[in-house]
Formats: sequence, C-alpha cells, structure tokens
Amino acid sequence: MLASQRHLFEMPRDICYLSSASYSPLPLKTLEAGCAAVGRKGAPWTLDAGFANRQHERARAAAAALIHADPADVALIPSVSYGVATAAKLFAIARGARVIVLEDDHSSPVLEWRMRAEAEGFTVDTVRRPDDGDWTSAVLAAIERPGAPPVGLASISSVHWSDGGLIDVDAVAAVLKRQGAVFLIDATQSAGVLTMDVSRLDPDFVIFPTYKWLLGPYGRAFMYLAKRHQGGVPLEQTAAGRRNVRAENEVYFTDLRYVADARRFDMGERDHFISMEMAAIGMEMMAEWGALAVAQRLALLTERIAEGVRGIGFSIADRRLRAPHILSLSFAQAMPQGLIEGLASEGIYVTARLGRLRVAPHVFNDEADVDRFVAALARRLR
Ligand SMILES: Cc1ncc(COP(=O)(O)O)c(C=O)c1O
Repeated sequence: MLASQRHLFEMPRDICYLSSASYSPLPLKTLEAGCAAVGRKGAPWTLDAGFANRQHERARAAAAALIHADPADVALIPSVSYGVATAAKLFAIARGARVIVLEDDHSSPVLEWRMRAEAEGFTVDTVRRPDDGDWTSAVLAAIERPGAPPVGLASISSVHWSDGGLIDVDAVAAVLKRQGAVFLIDATQSAGVLTMDVSRLDPDFVIFPTYKWLLGPYGRAFMYLAKRHQGGVPLEQTAAGRRNVRAENEVYFTDLRYVADARRFDMGERDHFISMEMAAIGMEMMAEWGALAVAQRLALLTERIAEGVRGIGFSIADRRLRAPHILSLSFAQAMPQGLIEGLASEGIYVTARLGRLRVAPHVFNDEADVDRFVAALARRLR
C-alpha cells in the first residue's frame, strides 16, 4: 500500500486539504523547479538551442505515459476548453444527430457543442443525473434509447467533477463504436488516478489539465488525438505546427505543410520556460507511484470518511458507482450555512458542489487528516 507522501509537500500539520478535485498543491520538487525556471527566464543566455524542445518533449512523454499513448499522438494545450475547441474543428456532426453530454458536467466538454448545435443542425442530449448514482447505465441507456436519432458524439467526463460519479468509459466506448460515433473524454478528474489505455480503448480524444490530480500548474493541459483525426486543421496557426517555418532560415515560409502527427495541434508559445517542466514533474511523480497504487491509497481514505460519517445522516453513492478519490456527501436537507467556511477556519478545506459536500483527498493526505475532518464535521452538525 502506498504510504502518505506528505513529506514531499510543504504542508503544515494543521492543514487538512481535501480539495484536490478543485486544485492541488505543488510538490516541493515542483516548487523548486519553478523557482529555478523563473531564474532561467531571467537569464535566457544560459539556455542552449535544444532546451525548449527537450522541455516540451519531456512533458509530452509524461502525459502520454499516463494514458498509455504514443507521445506523437499527444498535443500540448493550455486548457480543456482549448482541446474541445480543437476537436470541434476536426470533424462534422451529422445534421439531425445527437451529442451526448452529462447533466451539470463541467462547462468545458459541454459548451462548445451547445454553442454549435443550432447552426450545425444537431441536438445536445443531456443525460440527467441518475437518482441511484449510476452514471454509466444512464449514459448507455441514453445512447441506445429506442427511436432516438443517432449519436454523433459523446463529450463526457470520465469522472463527474461534482459528485465523483464514475463513468465506465470502456462500456461507453463499445456502444459508441457500434453507432460509429466520436468519443471525447474529459479525463480531468481521472487521469493519473484511474488507469486508461488508449491503445486498447481507442477513443477519439482524451483531454486533461495538470493543476488538479496531476499536481501541476495552471495553463498546462494535454490532448490525445487518435491518428484518424490528425490530418485536420489546428485551432491556431503556428510555425511549430508546420514543417519548415523557421526564423533561422533565409526563406522564412519554406514548407507550409503541417507536421504529420499530433504536434501540429500544439498551442502557440509552447516553449514555456517555467510551467512546462513543472507540469512534467507532477505527471512523472504520479506515473512513478502508479495509478493503481494511488487509487488504492485514496480509496482507503475516502472509505474511511464514508465509514466515519455513517450515522451522521449523509447519503453516499454505492462504492462501485463512485471514483476512489472523490466522495460526495448529500445532506438530507440543505447544507447548513457557513459549514464550509467554518471548517476552513479550522484549517480543513473541502468544497460545496451543487449542494453537496465534495471531499477529494490526494497522496499528501493521511488518516489523521480524514479523522480530523470527520470529527469536525460531526461536531459542527450536532
Ligand atoms: C471535468 C472538468 N473538466 C475541465 C475542467 C477545467 O477546464 P478548463 O481547463 O477548460 O478550464 C474542470 C475544472 O474543474 C473539470 O472539473
């Protein structure tokens, strides 16, 4: 069993941070690398010609490893919404078809399709949050609803950000394939914690940022694109995306053909001296621990909380329906006012999400943290 990794973070003992589904702290190693990198940007003459390329290829490889992808199939992007906008330029949804999204899914995998639906003649079919918490069955039923128009695309999270509901992407991929539909997975809340093997799953797109579960900075995200989509036009037109547009050339625009792989979709200013390396470090740490070990450790903590709050009057989804690292506590009535703020005043950080309490431990948390949270919650609800 993976032990708590608290010693790798700058985290005072009286801080009980249970909010990594919002944003995680940076490991000490990342903080140090970030400080060194700021200094490097202050002295750019110290950088050799191959520096930038080494940085983005290191980050690309680290991201690819988390989903068992070939690094050549992964693009460097700044956000999930950027990735979804990129995907939207690469294929057309048939007129009359449906796009499947989840109720109250994060805006990034949803709004692009809502914005396009009317003009492009498709509908957005929103899968309602199931009362029994079984998102997978609800999504499968929506895709296969008798008499409904064909599905052109499912653009969904692999773990629902608000309630930690788990979506079995293997089962969803299988039914989508039968309809010839495109599958875009927002893996923000799962990459690094839940195993994903794109070489077996064969989704069309998988997108995730680093600032939550991957212990990285804001502004760094990654996009896997299946090879069948790599011939399209990127969101931005950059020199790096073309075969030979180089400032060092005598003729600047020498070869305007796009590079052959997912690198054509890399964002502008990918030569980021500071946060690219910071992103790589967190992803490498997660890979070193391994998703199975991380998930096992976090399941132990969320189960301990679930057990501890039993009897206080919360309802919690069945264990097999929720992610191992996000626990959503539903109140019988409304959440008491000031609860989140009160806990924060004691150094205990959890979040209110859509009327529920979301608890999201990470590798730096330990049993003392969760016991403290449970005791404080019980005391405040008495
Ligand atoms: C499921 C999900 N997708 C995406 C994001 C972030 O999207 P973006 O990178 O576009 O800001 C979040 C942040 O909370 C999220 O929970």
